Amino acid sequence: MKKIILALDVYDFSRVEELVKKTVPYIDIYKVGPILFLRYGEKIMRIIKDNGKEIFLDLKFHDIPTTVKLSVESAKELGVFSLTVHSIGGEDMLMAATSIKSRPKIWAVTVLTSQVATKEEVIRRAKLAKACGVDGVISSPLEIAIIKKECGKEFDVVTPGIRLESIYDDQKRVATPDVAIKEGADFIVVGRPILNTINPIETLKNIYNKI
Ligand code: C5P
Repeated sequence: MKKIILALDVYDFSRVEELVKKTVPYIDIYKVGPILFLRYGEKIMRIIKDNGKEIFLDLKFHDIPTTVKLSVESAKELGVFSLTVHSIGGEDMLMAATSIKSRPKIWAVTVLTSQVATKEEVIRRAKLAKACGVDGVISSPLEIAIIKKECGKEFDVVTPGIRLESIYDDQKRVATPDVAIKEGADFIVVGRPILNTINPIETLKNIYNKI
């Protein structure tokens, strides 16, 4: 699968439609977050699926185990490829999430890339997630190598916090796309560094060609 996950952090329906249509050659998985999902729900899912692509539903579940389990079940019924939970929800919550059969991939957020974190804390949460049957983690590009070393090559590492230059927005633990891929990221999640440029498709094409 293609390595770039495009974060669809735009909130105008026709812009989303246009963006998906124009980025199809470079993207296999589109990330839908709470803002877009709350505004347009299944209509957004349809656009992505009609273009033959996969959905990463990034709602970052963090609740009591039963609620999270039923949320994963509902996401499965929507036909998403992957979804997120917060590792900080703990063992019981993570086990409940992974207990669903033939479910989407579950990726656990270690520590948000907008927060400062020690490597030890990130590794502790990644190992907990792995022990609970989670498929991988969302973590910063600065921790890819150590997570792969501690949790194994098969454990997915998906990294937001991708920056092309020194405009960090609210992200704190960042790297460039090529560094993240070189470090071993399975997927990089990119939003504003593509969407906030004058020609997003050209920017995406450049990143795609570089990695
Ligand atoms: O615009 P930018 O490239 O920073 O977007 C990153 C995307 O990844 C956002 O949609 C954000 O919600 C999401 N994300 C993140 N950090 C995490 C998990 C998800 O930035 N730990």
